[in-house]
Amino acid sequence: MSELRPRRRPSRAVRRRRTIVVASALGGALVVALVAALVVLSPQGQPTAATTPTPEATKTETPTPTPTPTPTPTFNKNAQSIDDPNSYWVVADKLRQLNPADYEPPDLVEVPVDYVNQPFLRQAASDAVVQMFAAFTAETGLYMASQSAYRSYSSQESVYAGWVSSLGKEAADLTSARPGHSEHQTGLSIDISADPANCSLDQCFADTPQGQWLAANSWKYGFVLRYPNGYTQITGYEFEPWHYRYVGIELSTELHTTGVMTLEEFFGLPPAPDYAN
Ligand code: DAL
Ligand code: ZN
Repeated sequence: MSELRPRRRPSRAVRRRRTIVVASALGGALVVALVAALVVLSPQGQPTAATTPTPEATKTETPTPTPTPTPTPTFNKNAQSIDDPNSYWVVADKLRQLNPADYEPPDLVEVPVDYVNQPFLRQAASDAVVQMFAAFTAETGLYMASQSAYRSYSSQESVYAGWVSSLGKEAADLTSARPGHSEHQTGLSIDISADPANCSLDQCFADTPQGQWLAANSWKYGFVLRYPNGYTQITGYEFEPWHYRYVGIELSTELHTTGVMTLEEFFGLPPAPDYAN
């Protein structure tokens, strides 16, 4: 029935009331829109606590989850012995005499490189030296030579005695290991010189092309600079930029990557500035 009732034009008063209602509604909507715009454009770009976020806003507010770090294999510091003199990781210092003290390596070979004193090293160390010297020459056109490599207990006795007679015992102990304590006796260490000779067994070797290249690249061939500058209180010896110790590429890479400078620190061993007696 109501659909059939004839329509009447609303009175002027009714029309005015409707206009007021519509205007009020539009005004309210405008205020809401303005507030929303202010929130979006606020310096933090975040709605205030009093604002009810739209579903879209909720999505953008969700904190980005911290990425899960890709697991890296944990280096196994116990993979090889640091006590067994046959281990490539053996640590010899003033507090760690080789055991037995007169140890002799099982697989010494003559190292086929230029030399000052005929060099012998354990097979793996020899192979690595050959590769390293060849890489240096290929990259620079320059040459290196072995100054001194394996030294037996008895030859270390002579070397140490020579230093004591020329420098006195205290100074000799900063330069030369007592027999039974030298890495040279493991067949894994080599003193390297420039060829032709330049600053041999001198700290200025660090500034030669050979010394610089070795410091930067020897880790790629399994070597570490065993007596770095500023670590005398840990290693017991003054800076020897010519003395490189073969530990194998796995450990030399780990030392390089982590920036740990000494075997004592890496393996949590006590600093060895002096002999126990
Ligand atoms: N120059 C090193 C410390 C040695 O004699 O083994
Ligand atoms: Zn040496």
